[in-house]
Amino acid sequence: MSFCVAIDGPAAAGKGTIARAVAARFGFAHLDSGLLYRAVGRRSLAGEDPVEAARTLDARELDDPALRTPEVAEAASRVAAMPQVRQALVDFQRAFARRAGGAVLDGRDIGTVICPEAEVKLFVTASDEVRARRRHAELRAQGREVSLAQVAADLRARDSRDAARAIAPLRRADDAVLLDTTAMSIEQALEQAIGHVRAAMCRSGCSGAGSDARG
Ligand code: DC
Repeated sequence: MSFCVAIDGPAAAGKGTIARAVAARFGFAHLDSGLLYRAVGRRSLAGEDPVEAARTLDARELDDPALRTPEVAEAASRVAAMPQVRQALVDFQRAFARRAGGAVLDGRDIGTVICPEAEVKLFVTASDEVRARRRHAELRAQGREVSLAQVAADLRARDSRDAARAIAPLRRADDAVLLDTTAMSIEQALEQAIGHVRAAMCRSGCSGAGSDARG
């Protein structure tokens, strides 16, 4: 039986942390869809045609830590505005969303385009300042020397491009629950997200999809 949790939102809002924790808690598979665009962006930085890169993408590329850099994130946002790139990545994501045993996907268009019939939709956000601080701390932890102002400017530029593009823009689905994590601890955000998933599972009588050992 399939059960899809769609988690969308702007960069550095906490989607990934929430998606990983929800997947672990309920025994669902997890796909960080941003990695698909990052992998295509990385290949385009190396001179490859982005559409060709999207069509020949290999899931094993998604594990590469080199996809986590700000340069690749920027390239990802650019190739993500290309309709043929997005089209080439749709089938893989839809199949993932409907795999047996449940799936969590996080990205920008999961609840609106990839899985509009998802059993749970969360739109995770936080203030620009808090998101910039979180991303800055992550980059510092990776040993990258970059100013907070630069991180904030990069996030703003990427978010506006992701929200302004003509195809599958970053947008909250009408039926998505808004989770503003600005003033929340990670634990509080996770508790809320898990509560929404558990409620949806009860509503759909979906006891066979994954398991929540702690009840
Ligand atoms: O989530 P992320 O920061 O790793 O995503 C990198 C870029 O990929 C992001 O700026 C926009 C694009 N993206 C997208 O267009 N649609 C998705 N579902 C996920 C990411």
